[in-house]
Amino acid sequence: MKYYQIATLVSLCILLGGCASSATDARADALANGKAIFSTGRDSQGQTIAAQTPPLMPSCQACHGANGAGGVHLPGGAVSADLRYSALVSGQKHPYTMALLERAISTGIDDDGDSLNPVMPRWQLSKQDLHDVAYYVLHKLK
Ligand code: HEC
Repeated sequence: MKYYQIATLVSLCILLGGCASSATDARADALANGKAIFSTGRDSQGQTIAAQTPPLMPSCQACHGANGAGGVHLPGGAVSADLRYSALVSGQKHPYTMALLERAISTGIDDDGDSLNPVMPRWQLSKQDLHDVAYYVLHKLK
């Protein structure tokens, strides 16, 4: 890092009231935005989330349940997946990471490299929204 970059960072930290607390704020913002997307299908700016083809339901929660437990029977015989930590991480051959989760949400490729049922929308989210909803799923659905 160049001197002027460090100087910029330091002054930004001072402006934002300290680096440690701004990191905590960023995490809280990510969780709040992720929760809004998951439960309402709108991000914290009020923007409706979109997918490659129009989704059957407007929010993650509508198909996966508020606690992410899944098991909801959908048209065409699809059953929504359990998104809780116990299902996505513990005991998985290829446990979901943030990167794998972002890939599944945006491209429909699961942790084993297999294609998910097309009833699971291929979401087209901003980088921030994709990160935040994956972060919420991985850290809040127990
Ligand atoms: C229209 C219903 C529907 C909506 C809306 C939906 N999903 Fe899904 N999702 C599914 C179904 C059905 C599956 C299971 C697909 C399969 O078994 O191949 C699934 C699977 C998944 C998986 C893969 C889990 C695994 O075990 O590999 C993830 C991750 C996921 N959904 C996240 C989300 C997130 C995050 C949202 C919101 C941004 C969302 N889903 C919205 C129906 C939906």
